[in-house]
Amino acid sequence: QLGEPRQEQSSPRCHHVFQNSVVFVCGRLFELDPALLSLFHYSTNCGSTQDCLSSPEFLDHVTKVMLVIDAAVSHLDDLHSLEDFLLNLGRKHQAVGVNTQSFAVVGESLLYMLQCSLGQAYTAALRQAWLNMYSIVVAAMSRGWAK
Ligand code: HEM
Repeated sequence: QLGEPRQEQSSPRCHHVFQNSVVFVCGRLFELDPALLSLFHYSTNCGSTQDCLSSPEFLDHVTKVMLVIDAAVSHLDDLHSLEDFLLNLGRKHQAVGVNTQSFAVVGESLLYMLQCSLGQAYTAALRQAWLNMYSIVVAAMSRGWAK
């Protein structure tokens, strides 16, 4: 809720809020584009949107995304050192049939999570800084499609 007093957030809480944001935003995404659901063909779990969103594999993927974001934050001053890793990660996503446009929804979840966690500290400048970082990550992953 915007306007709440600012609190120190531990990363498990942020992760939890992020996971909920992803589940929330992906729930909407899967409604809009049911074909995306089939990309998460983990075992037999993803028959319906709800099955997929609550499957351990899907939630594990949220953790995987978070670890990449974490790596980007800790390499803000030398993001190019992640270039090869991100290019390869892009290749893997191309191989499983992900469309680069779908990455936007993950960015939307990230911003939503920050807004929920930070309250008044979520400023336009902060939003822009996160967007810039995420755009660099997605641009590097997208280069995995070109070659
Ligand atoms: C792996 C789908 C976005 C990070 C995977 C896999 C699928 C997938 C099907 C393989 C199964 C698995 O490991 O869970 C998607 C879809 C996305 C998306 C549909 C967008 C809507 C992202 C983003 C990141 C990311 C934005 C990071 C910023 C990873 C990582 C792996 C992975 C680290 C493991 C790769 C490995 O095994 O080496 N993704 N992904 N994904 N994804 Fe995503």
